[in-house]
Amino acid sequence: MEIRSKFSIRLIVLAITINLSLALPSSPQPYSWTGSFGDDESSEISPLRGHPSLLGVITKEVNPESSASVSSDKYELAPGQGASAELGIPFTFEDTTNPQPIRGDLGSTDPGPRTYSYDRLNPDTLAPPGSDSGDVEQAKWPMGLSHNRILPGHAGWSRQENVHNLPLATAMAGVDMKLAPWAYRELHWHKANEWGLILNGSVRLQTMNEDGQTFVDDLTEGDVWYFPSGIPHSLQGLDKGSEFMLVFDQGDFDDGGTSLASEMFLRNPKEVLSKNLQAPLTDFDDLPKDQLYIFNGTPAPKDIKEQNVTGPGGFAAGAESYTYHLSKQKSYETPGGSIKIIDPINFPIARNFSAALVTIKPGAMREIHWHGTSDEWGFFISGNARVSVYIAPTSGATFDFSAGDVSYVPATASHYIENIGNEDVVFLEVLQAPRFTDISVGQWLKLTPKQIIKDTLHLPDSLLDNLSPNKQYIVQGNTNLTSALGSRGPT
Ligand SMILES: *[C@@H]1O[C@H](CO)[C@@H](O)[C@H](O)[C@H]1NC(C)=O
Ligand SMILES: *[C@@H]1O[C@H](CO)[C@@H](O)[C@H](O)[C@H]1NC(C)=O
Ligand SMILES: *[C@@H]1O[C@H](CO)[C@@H](O)[C@H](O)[C@H]1NC(C)=O
Ligand SMILES: *[C@@H]1O[C@H](CO)[C@@H](O)[C@H](O)[C@H]1NC(C)=O
Repeated sequence: MEIRSKFSIRLIVLAITINLSLALPSSPQPYSWTGSFGDDESSEISPLRGHPSLLGVITKEVNPESSASVSSDKYELAPGQGASAELGIPFTFEDTTNPQPIRGDLGSTDPGPRTYSYDRLNPDTLAPPGSDSGDVEQAKWPMGLSHNRILPGHAGWSRQENVHNLPLATAMAGVDMKLAPWAYRELHWHKANEWGLILNGSVRLQTMNEDGQTFVDDLTEGDVWYFPSGIPHSLQGLDKGSEFMLVFDQGDFDDGGTSLASEMFLRNPKEVLSKNLQAPLTDFDDLPKDQLYIFNGTPAPKDIKEQNVTGPGGFAAGAESYTYHLSKQKSYETPGGSIKIIDPINFPIARNFSAALVTIKPGAMREIHWHGTSDEWGFFISGNARVSVYIAPTSGATFDFSAGDVSYVPATASHYIENIGNEDVVFLEVLQAPRFTDISVGQWLKLTPKQIIKDTLHLPDSLLDNLSPNKQYIVQGNTNLTSALGSRGPT
């Protein structure tokens, strides 16, 4: 009994000694960040966590020299930024050295830390108009923030927006892809339907459907294609290569998850391949050892007829065509810009894809509207714009967009696209619908009994009389803030 207890006391003492020696640091911990209120002065060495004496009230520690206010000589407001937040006029921080989150009487200076580039790209996020309200899900995803998949041999790259980086975008996803001259997007197929617009350069594409009907065509900047789910297809960049934007009708589409010709051959026993294609085993010696995805190829023949393979199913011509030469379509002109509409009425195979390619002049605006049945997936090809989204019943938010940004607006949510820059805004809007439609707010006000509008919104006769019974699509505007502000003027 006695021996046992002495032994256990010795064990406890040993354990305490080990614990103590573990608790004492053998050398001071590295300590580099210095707060503006100074270091922990309670100890010579800098422990990883500060001294308990720093807890709670230490009045003498307040440093009168440090300030969270930016003094007025250290920043200037952008032209128009001082105007009432209720007006919500657009302004740019382009020539503003130290942009501040201030609009009219709202906001306060920001001493940092921050990265000014974000503020310059998003003035309406830093200093939102007074009309913004409540919670609105993020409606913008810059493709420049998407991880890029870059392929060997400078063959190309691809990056994507889907519900994983833009959670609001549940019904559609986008893939931005580049093919170098003669590079291929490998023969492949997938579960989603695919709609594509060429942004730059030209491609040759081909496909074959379930009926053995074939198709081949060359497309250039501004042209469109469509591949239904499951149909195997490939694309090849022509002599100058190509960049294009793909839109899929599934929010969780992943371009890394498509079925590939190379993988399908790798996933079947060679014995099976040999039997199926009635060829000796040695014919499969040179199959690729890994998937190709995007890879360099041999130059396509100049004459497309050399690649026009047809069988008993014939060629997919006319209404069965997988392409539409939108670049050749005449734009519908409006005073503020122009618009091209492509939907199953002119491109029948793309059964549920309806789109508009809109050009908005500086100061002009794609009018306030909403789409009744479909979300809108958008892509900004050029310029600078802002968009306010109204989400029922009481929320609204304004987002700024520039070339390379994706936008997403839920069905029935009203929105406009205002050109707030000095160059044309070119904007693609894509719907899941059998026809491109929207409700135009101007047209709706005009075609509703005047009495109802006046009782509801208290708008004057002069305004209602001036409205057109036709959809405007793009309304004119000006870029002159002084004139836009009218008699109220900036403060
Ligand atoms: C295509 O790329 C060329 C060269 O970079 C550029 O000059 C041109 O503006 C691009 N076209 C479009 C529509 O972006
Ligand atoms: C391919 O050949 C078919 C006839 O078999 C023809 O109808 C079609 O226009 C051709 N397409 C091209 C792009 O040459
Ligand atoms: C078209 O898209 C809408 C909106 O996503 C969907 O509700 C509808 O089922 C689709 N129609 C067809 C024929 O796929
Ligand atoms: C802007 O508009 C105001 C008022 O309409 C006018 O006086 C001024 O000259 C305009 N400025 C420019 C640069 O056009």
